[in-house]
Amino acid sequence: MKLNVLLLPGDGIGVEVTREAEKVLKHVTSAYGHELAVHQGLLGGIAIHKAGNPFPDETRKLALEADATLMGAVGLPEFDNAPPEKRPERGLLGIRQTLQVYANLRPVRSYKALIDSSPLKNELVDGTDMIIVRELTGGIYYGTPRGISGSGAEERAVNTMTYTRAEIERVSHMAFQLARKRKKKVTSVDKSNVLENSQLWRRVVVEVAGQYSDVALEHILVDNCAMQLVLNPRRFDVVLTENMFGDILSDEGAVLAGSIGMLPSASIGNRRPSGAWTGLYEPVHGSAPDIAGQNKANPLGAIGSVAAMLEYSFGLMEEAAAVNHAMETVLNSGKVTADLKPPGAPAATSEVGDAVCAAIAKAATV
Ligand code: IPM
Ligand code: MN
Repeated sequence: MKLNVLLLPGDGIGVEVTREAEKVLKHVTSAYGHELAVHQGLLGGIAIHKAGNPFPDETRKLALEADATLMGAVGLPEFDNAPPEKRPERGLLGIRQTLQVYANLRPVRSYKALIDSSPLKNELVDGTDMIIVRELTGGIYYGTPRGISGSGAEERAVNTMTYTRAEIERVSHMAFQLARKRKKKVTSVDKSNVLENSQLWRRVVVEVAGQYSDVALEHILVDNCAMQLVLNPRRFDVVLTENMFGDILSDEGAVLAGSIGMLPSASIGNRRPSGAWTGLYEPVHGSAPDIAGQNKANPLGAIGSVAAMLEYSFGLMEEAAAVNHAMETVLNSGKVTADLKPPGAPAATSEVGDAVCAAIAKAATV
């Protein structure tokens, strides 16, 4: 198979974790006899510096041409006070919208080897295995009107949370279809005791559920969900929620996995004629400028995103499993970065990437 992949390292540790992810992608595709073409583009703060725009036209063009895009992270402290259109994050929102990747899948699971990395009690996190399906191209992130106007005591800021029925339906179908391949349970998260937006959300989710009689549906308010995630995480299978709630809850999920550096994500949208998904793959973590350039960031979230890309955008299940398996081998070996609190000296970002490649090489020759 020929894989045409766009790489957008972005800012901060995005650069070093995508370097390892690319290494693993090259390794696994060559081990399994595929042809890989990688193009590189600018997104985020680096794009503002080099092209004056967080999402340059050239990047838009490359993303629309690629089969799949692998991203690092965006965000740099020097833009903290910049206007919204000149912030790195706007680049990320732009590419998500351009690719129409409306479903962001964020798996959260506890790994045996990392059980002590979570500050929560072992018996509580053990066996956690859920996937958060976050709506990604609607809601308060994109709604208009938005902006800051006026001055003095009358200065006023507005954001708008808006969803159409069609937007809720398509992401709900994604959640129910995923649940069918798992434990057949969808937990829909909303704030329907206060927001009309959530009232429509809940009503549409119930309607869609009618087409999936084999999947159980429950509803939970977002504040209670935040609590249940750390009280009883095993009760969750597929968690379906809107954009901002999903952003917040998935960071909380990171505590269950041991470190936010572990979490991969797949943002998928429409199916192409081949049946594969248009996809944008990125670790859940941010650009972490405080540790950038020090070769100590955890690349496993980015490497796990490569596995997701192989699975969803290319349908290469065996190759995806090889990457996931190699990651587990490395986790069990203890050769991991400082965030995972290894018993011995922490490994460098590049050492973890090399170790994952070595584990794949071994698996391919036996
Ligand atoms: C994420 C990030 C982004 C988001 C930021 C960087 C815009 O926090 O992917 O979770 O809020 O979606
Ligand atoms: Mn986030």
